[in-house]
Amino acid sequence: MDTKTLMEWSARYHTPNYGRSPILLVRGEGTRVWDSDGREYLDFTTGIAVTALGHCHPVVTGAIREAAATLLHVSNIFHTAPQIHLAKMLVEHSFADRVFFCNSGAEANEAALKLARKYGKEKLASDRYEVIATHNSFHGRTLATVTATGQPKYQHGFEPLMPGFKHVPYNDLRAMERALDNRTAAILVEPIQGEGGVHVPDDDYLPGLRKLCDESGALLIFDEIQTGMGRTGKLWGYEHSGVEPDVMTVAKALANGVPIGAMLCREEAASVLTAGSHGSTFGGTPFVTSVALATLTTMIGEKLPERAARLGRDLMDGLRAIQASNPLIKGVRGRGFLIGIELAKPAAPLMDACRDSGLLVLTAGEKVLRLAPPLVAQPGEIARALDILKDVLSKAGG
Ligand SMILES: Cc1ncc(COP(=O)(O)O)c(C=O)c1O
Repeated sequence: MDTKTLMEWSARYHTPNYGRSPILLVRGEGTRVWDSDGREYLDFTTGIAVTALGHCHPVVTGAIREAAATLLHVSNIFHTAPQIHLAKMLVEHSFADRVFFCNSGAEANEAALKLARKYGKEKLASDRYEVIATHNSFHGRTLATVTATGQPKYQHGFEPLMPGFKHVPYNDLRAMERALDNRTAAILVEPIQGEGGVHVPDDDYLPGLRKLCDESGALLIFDEIQTGMGRTGKLWGYEHSGVEPDVMTVAKALANGVPIGAMLCREEAASVLTAGSHGSTFGGTPFVTSVALATLTTMIGEKLPERAARLGRDLMDGLRAIQASNPLIKGVRGRGFLIGIELAKPAAPLMDACRDSGLLVLTAGEKVLRLAPPLVAQPGEIARALDILKDVLSKAGG
């Protein structure tokens, strides 16, 4: 089928809820993808922080083949070994005691929000069900998670939203302290706001939230759907802060592109999820948990978070060097391989210009270009991306 016809069918048959780039991707390997015309691109989007080990990593592909030929799906009314091994590995490499598996980031956050409500009611007080989230956050597209998301543009038209949510400015401890009251069941934040513009909070922010939760009994929930799995230069974003959450949500890179979500939590919080209280048909199938095990084992074994920390610093240094002679760049921020370039003008046309020059990047908010390369990106690929960015930004009037 020719590309033109497929594009026409895409416009005709899909619901129109995505603004898509006008290319059709057909193949990927490592940091590179190819379109239907054979054009090669450096992929610094990784499916929005998903394919951390790069496209078609041989270990992941091997795990997919083997798991598909062994046991694809059985219900959670049975035990399966890969799910148990993955839960054990996640617990051994995090603060958590227990893990619930689902299929996406939004579902992981749904699980965390439901847990917070049940925990609040059963362990704190019958009317403690509220969750405080932050302006500019992103937590998903289901009705509860879009309510938690502190960006009206994602909520518009879907009202009435869920009751029981409040929002305060991100990185503002005083505002959080003022909002917290005897209804609060949990605080929900991203350790770095990704979608909202790659905002890294001050060093005292997450420890301050930890203290507020310790004093009030509320649960501290970190949404690590974007910051987790090595993206920020540590396996989990919270490891930069010196404090741990009570609940953490993970998805995106956990199985390097095969859909999965997970909610990790401490024993005391987990105890409210009694048998039958929550569940998922597809959550944690032997197939996806085998692929996640292969992904996590590779990531830890090959020290990829450390690599992202090192090369992420080089990438940021390179961007700051471009900034020094280009007034279009207002700031460069981020950690590891989650980087935002704040611009003086809208980012979308520059994202398109990068694509036309062979580099796929993301936006985050109106004026931020977001880079999320695979953790396996080679130094030469980073240098090439910097050349393209320099050229595109200078042509854009910098
Ligand atoms: C921080 C964060 N939370 C939640 C989500 C929602 O994840 P999903 O699209 O898998 O539902 C995203 C997706 O971008 C995210 O970045």
